[in-house]
Amino acid sequence: MIGNEKTEKFKILAFETSCDDTSVAVINSNFNVLVNLISSQTTHEDFGGVVPELASRLHLKNIMQLTQAALTKAELSFEDIDAIAVSVNPGLIGALLVGVSFAKSLAYSLGKPLIAVNHMLGHIYANRIENPDLIPPYLALVVSGGHTELVDFKSMDEFKIIGRTRDDAAGEAFDKVAKLLGLGYPGGPIIDKIAKNGDPKFHRFPRALNKKDNFDFSFSGFKTSVRNYLASKDNNFITNHIVDIAASVQQAIVDSLVSKTIAYAKKSNAKTIIVAGGVSANSLLRKEISEKGKSFGVNVFFPALEYCMDNAAMIGAAAIEKYQKSDFADLSLNAFSTKGIRIL
Ligand code: KG4
Ligand code: ZN
Repeated sequence: MIGNEKTEKFKILAFETSCDDTSVAVINSNFNVLVNLISSQTTHEDFGGVVPELASRLHLKNIMQLTQAALTKAELSFEDIDAIAVSVNPGLIGALLVGVSFAKSLAYSLGKPLIAVNHMLGHIYANRIENPDLIPPYLALVVSGGHTELVDFKSMDEFKIIGRTRDDAAGEAFDKVAKLLGLGYPGGPIIDKIAKNGDPKFHRFPRALNKKDNFDFSFSGFKTSVRNYLASKDNNFITNHIVDIAASVQQAIVDSLVSKTIAYAKKSNAKTIIVAGGVSANSLLRKEISEKGKSFGVNVFFPALEYCMDNAAMIGAAAIEKYQKSDFADLSLNAFSTKGIRIL
């Protein structure tokens, strides 16, 4: 506990606009989510990926209405809010700027403190919503559409990146392979769904960088291998075995994530693993990492499914500790582009 830590009850209004979801939430100091609205931008589906300029425009169009809808749903007014939190990095810069500018204007006009939150830190803190007592240290596997990081997490001010992807992120690998298979975007949830009916041993795709003591990830060779495999088969074969290919693809990605996380947990004697980010919704990942962890006495935690993908409740969850420490931003706050989790 820090000397001047605030202990009173409070409510945080949080914003998340780092990519293609506009989200507004209110969370209280006990990690109770009073409301969490997400407006997912379906426009991008036609392009097979997020178009940054369209994302910014849609955030701009949605954010005011969504804020009003969130307060109405929670039966709150601006006066009931104690602080405003917003994700400031990493993400699409134009998209982040919409949230940051809006949060700054609200904080200024309402005279409330402003809290800047790293988006990846938000993903980690999504775990606290279901498990408020889940306090570090732990080993965090952060797997999203843009990032794949293994983090030795002691506190939000003290953590070490043990490994990260050298090329594509895990979610990106799901998305790109789904595109090759003609399955649509985002690919992770679709592959997860159809893989349930497939044979994960149908074809063995490569697991990269699998040498002992290498905790970095790589998915670009895997992606090329899927592309070459598909090019070597005719359309009928692919259509007839689409669920088996999806299951084999999913197994390869999950094996890479699980083996490295478990290997480092063993090496560092970690007692707790937490998984965070959109890919933490993956059913096979949840099953395999839990089972492996359990087999040698490590507890594994995930966010509730509704808080795995981008949402503002997780930004509010990370802001709770910052509020307690009076770690506030001033109005010179800007959005910025960085890689992964970092201290603001
Ligand atoms: O954290 P997130 O919502 O956004 C970023 O910060 O990137 O993660 C989105 C990523 C996408 O790549 C999506 O395909 C992946 O998470 N994803 C999944 C699943 N649900 C979402 N990947 C595998 N299995 C899932 N069930
Ligand atoms: Zn995210």
